[in-house]
Amino acid sequence: MRNARHIVTITALILLSTYLMYAGLTSIGLMPTAASIQAGPIDWLFDIHVIAMSFLFSLITVILLYSLVVFRRKPGETGDGAHIEGNTGLEIFWTIVPLIVVIAFGIIGADNLRNVRAADPNALEVRVIGRQWDWRFEYPEGFSSTTLYLPVHKQVLLKLESSDVLHSFWVPEFRVKQDMIPGRVTELRITPTLEGEYPIKCAEICGTRHAYMVSPVVVVSQVAYDAWVTEQVALYEAELLASEGQPDARRGEQLYTQYCLACHSLTGTVGQGPTWKGLFGRENRPLADGSVVALVDEEYLYESITAPNAKIAQGFNANAMPSFSYLRDSQVYDLIEFIKTLE
Ligand code: CUA
Repeated sequence: MRNARHIVTITALILLSTYLMYAGLTSIGLMPTAASIQAGPIDWLFDIHVIAMSFLFSLITVILLYSLVVFRRKPGETGDGAHIEGNTGLEIFWTIVPLIVVIAFGIIGADNLRNVRAADPNALEVRVIGRQWDWRFEYPEGFSSTTLYLPVHKQVLLKLESSDVLHSFWVPEFRVKQDMIPGRVTELRITPTLEGEYPIKCAEICGTRHAYMVSPVVVVSQVAYDAWVTEQVALYEAELLASEGQPDARRGEQLYTQYCLACHSLTGTVGQGPTWKGLFGRENRPLADGSVVALVDEEYLYESITAPNAKIAQGFNANAMPSFSYLRDSQVYDLIEFIKTLE
């Protein structure tokens, strides 16, 4: 039984090669530290893929190399090899088996996704706003931060928004990743398991400074987190107190250079958006749908800043301007006060 001996040898070599391949691949550290509950099922799924890959690679290369060595032409052999006309049994086998494997991976993957998305009703909710090219995190207490602080062992539900183009929220140590789409709120759940500082990266090319769109996420104990929140709330309240009272055109001008300058000129030139020169108090302003705004007043400006698609100025497209509804009301009124000065 020479054939049986070949099959036994090849099987043993394939298993050995699979093991060496898998051991080699896992020893080079393909993954960074796992720092979230969600990393568990993902790493496990990744692991069985690496095993499958090691096996398939070995299956092909071992048979190929074995044949090259063992079945090579012997000295004195001059004839052709045996002529083989297909093998129906083998073809059915290698169609059915991969089909079953692919379906099994599909089922495992779906179940895995269910685990990764498991929702905790008590999750901490944080709003994440990505824009070219930074991150901002808004906490339920009202303040916002450019660093994402999270308490360890507590699920956080991130509500992701983009104020301009596509971005993608990604922390390699947490494994999960989610696209951020202008005009839509996407969600991501993370339960950090390890205290430490990790990088939040943008994983969707979003312009010239895409590579530098990085912010830290700091995972701390619940006690340290509570202390941080108390401190931030105090700072936020002090800031609110300072900005109370009358809207201020000078503060509005600062906000303008920060948020609006790129698209809205003050000189009458039409850019990506309408100019602000002589905007306030204008009558019968034409809109894209053919109607007119009788008077450009505070109410119209407020709506245009916080819900730009409600009334689109003639000559411009819907969704061209992101919503600035994340600005505080007092900031919107400061902006309006500034627009009023531009005659
Ligand atoms: Cu934001 Cu890339």
